[in-house]
Amino acid sequence: MTHDVDLKVYPDQCDSYGHLNQAALVSLLERARWEVVARGPGMDYFSRQRIWPALRKSTIEYHAQAFPGDVLRCSLSLVYIGRTSFVLRQAMRRTGDEALIATAEVVFVCIDSAGAPTPVPEDLTQVFTDRSPGGTLRRMGVNGVNLVVDVRGRGPAILFIHGYPLSHEIWEPQMAGLEGWTRIAPDLRGMGQSDAPDLGYSMATYAEDLLALLSAVGVERVVLCGLSMGGYVAFEIVRRAPQRVRGLILLDTRAEADTPEGRKGRETAMALAREGGAAAIADSMLPKILAASTFAENPALAERVRQMMAATPVSGITGAIAALRDRPDSTPLLDGLSDTPTLVAVGEHDQITPPDKVRAMAAAIPGARFEMVKGAGHLPTLERPESTTALLGEFLSGLP
Ligand code: MLT
Repeated sequence: MTHDVDLKVYPDQCDSYGHLNQAALVSLLERARWEVVARGPGMDYFSRQRIWPALRKSTIEYHAQAFPGDVLRCSLSLVYIGRTSFVLRQAMRRTGDEALIATAEVVFVCIDSAGAPTPVPEDLTQVFTDRSPGGTLRRMGVNGVNLVVDVRGRGPAILFIHGYPLSHEIWEPQMAGLEGWTRIAPDLRGMGQSDAPDLGYSMATYAEDLLALLSAVGVERVVLCGLSMGGYVAFEIVRRAPQRVRGLILLDTRAEADTPEGRKGRETAMALAREGGAAAIADSMLPKILAASTFAENPALAERVRQMMAATPVSGITGAIAALRDRPDSTPLLDGLSDTPTLVAVGEHDQITPPDKVRAMAAAIPGARFEMVKGAGHLPTLERPESTTALLGEFLSGLP
């Protein structure tokens, strides 16, 4: 399994003959390694666990010269894990002519704060597991990031926007079931397999990413279907580009901004993510996100949702928390949705966006239809997949 990281050569990294200097190349190799960690569990993955990967030995072979402006693709793979050590192999090729510039093998020993060898982190393999997409997934560069998106089918388009801290996988039953529609389900920046930059998260940025993504897949008008935070992003798209919205499906979401108390809760969640990582966030959210009956009837689903949350990069989690905390109030938009066919639905046992609140939001949207999904919590798409897909299909088939 390999990871690819593209790095550009600049004049200040070159010697007086204009070649990439060997010390600068060593630094690029290190940059590529950190980039892979940052794209995965976050830059602070090792320090969070109080484990430091000390470089014990590196063997580098220099094969060809590189020059300013060259883009070097560094492919990185984990080739050995011992008790306290691991080995990474890196190969650097110039994009364009594919010339092999350098290869390296780097041996690390994990040490604790006293400098003594300590076991490698248990989930190290996952950090270096290939996160590149396959099947119907594509990786697309839009708005300065690479987003992974599942695109299936033909016909009028529906854009599925997942909640926090989840991924396009919450729409799997609807992606499989809604034939006759072009189904588009991206991973928002910072979640799933999309890039997770350290900074720059807001509802506006998520919305701009998705508008650019729609243009990139050649879709002008679309039905928006947002769940929870996905609903907040859908409101932001309505605010920015109402002419592109053909219809609206709002699942388990709300229009109001956070209350002062809610904002305090975001700070607590931010601290938890920084200290305990994505796993701590997953453990704290899991009991609230699913109905009690889901845990009893479908423990495998509960575990799948926990893993989905725990696989979210920490930078994506903290970025999303800031975006949630700072999101604008969308209630002023509701009254203006009279020309937008709208379906509002919520899981019967949703604790995060309780049904009475969601019903009140639906009542404020002229002509909106409200439905309750029996037996579901905050994730009806997965907890009650058949009834949710049928509800969406019925709404879509009735659109003008
Ligand atoms: C979500 O499910 O997207 C979030 O829990 C929404 C929120 O916290 O407001």
